[in-house]
Amino acid sequence: MSLFRPCTALLALALMGTGCESEAPFPTEDELDQLSTLHTPSVKPEVDPTNRFGDNAAAASLGHRLFEDPGLSRCGTVSCRGCHAGESYTVETATAEGCDGQRTERNPPSLLNAGYNRWFMWDGRADRLWSQAVLPLTNPVEMDSNAEVVRARLVAEPTYVAEYTQLFGTAPGDEPDGDRLMANVGKVLAAYQRTLNRTDSPFDADVRRFLQAVAAGTQEQDPAYLGLKTFIRKGQCVVCHKGRMLTDDKFHNLGLKDAGAGKRGHADAVEPLLSWKFNAAGLFSDAPAGMDAARLPTLRTQVQGKPDEVVGAFRTPTLRNVALSAPYMHTGAEKTLEDVIDFYNEGGDPEGTFTGVRTVSIVKLDLSTEEKQSLVTLLKSMTGVAR
Ligand code: HEC
Ligand code: HEC
Repeated sequence: MSLFRPCTALLALALMGTGCESEAPFPTEDELDQLSTLHTPSVKPEVDPTNRFGDNAAAASLGHRLFEDPGLSRCGTVSCRGCHAGESYTVETATAEGCDGQRTERNPPSLLNAGYNRWFMWDGRADRLWSQAVLPLTNPVEMDSNAEVVRARLVAEPTYVAEYTQLFGTAPGDEPDGDRLMANVGKVLAAYQRTLNRTDSPFDADVRRFLQAVAAGTQEQDPAYLGLKTFIRKGQCVVCHKGRMLTDDKFHNLGLKDAGAGKRGHADAVEPLLSWKFNAAGLFSDAPAGMDAARLPTLRTQVQGKPDEVVGAFRTPTLRNVALSAPYMHTGAEKTLEDVIDFYNEGGDPEGTFTGVRTVSIVKLDLSTEEKQSLVTLLKSMTGVAR
């Protein structure tokens, strides 16, 4: 590792035999750079040009009521809220229940801070928050719905009709294109979800204080010292959980046993997304020629360039509010944060998951009990304050 520069002759002598790498004072300059990107001033999610109602308060208000409405489902009993429940906007079980008692294949992610995501779904098969909503609405094991069911529900409720018409200029009953209707419903649902932000956490205060301690040369006495050091140095967590949302917005195969047998994670998601009519470049996008659309094809290049890395790869989730959303991973197989740390410590599940593909991303860590505990404490400090 080339990061550890302060290996002076004097130090090397004093540490004889132990190798000066592991003893380099924390943080080195590179580690300091990584640290400084981790904490966040409370900033709103970046504007989404593909949804011109993304930050519209009237849209968010309509979206909020639709989010709670089981009438949008074919069976009449399943709302978005049903699977994205409580303070964490997820469920406490590994999978969730949709129409007719059917189970989802994967663990529902928390929707807190969803507006900050670059990709949606564990495998990245949606590229915008508004278009994501079309997937649970139409998924046969989730809401099992379609444009006609959704239209009928909107038309039956006078306040929906009035607010929809006010926003989109056409009454839901007169909207000639069912896909357009679904996209519009997605846009108001996204406007609501973009308000579910919890960013300021004790972690941010700890990082800011730690940075001051570094400047004063007193960081080793700081209570966050071991946690931050393990997160950045020995655990290498920061390689993927980086920046203010603690994610690289990329996909990795961690060697988890997959829930959907035969599915290949991100490798299976790219082509369907690129040809999807609801993507950022499509007919229903409010910026089909914008940056988000232009970046879409880069996904294909990434997948083609490194097939071994994208097969069985899933999105790096944010770690903000992670203590609220057990169980963990796309499978929901890790029940507690302690289990997650053990999983990483062992370098993934023994056999890996995907036939012929073993994780290349993570390695055994050999963490001490104190180091493991310091990571759990660190993760728990990432819970944002409700506003
Ligand atoms: C039956 C349970 C269920 C229902 C109903 C449901 N979801 Fe989900 N949701 C899930 C699951 C499971 C996933 C993860 C799916 C995957 O990645 O394959 C998910 C993923 C998401 C994501 C992606 C989050 C991320 O970080 O990638 C968003 C956003 C979301 N749902 C919003 C909604 C909205 C809006 C509705 C209503 C229109 C809804 N959900 C209805 C179970 C559900
Ligand atoms: C190679 C990139 C990478 C590294 C290194 C990494 N992670 Fe992750 N992390 C991921 C990905 C990808 C997932 C989701 C994997 C899945 O579900 O298949 C994940 C999931 C998690 C989760 C579960 C979050 C949830 O919502 O379910 C936690 C907690 C976590 N990581 C913490 C850590 C810690 C602590 C470390 C360091 C010991 C670490 N990660 C190192 C990429 C990484």
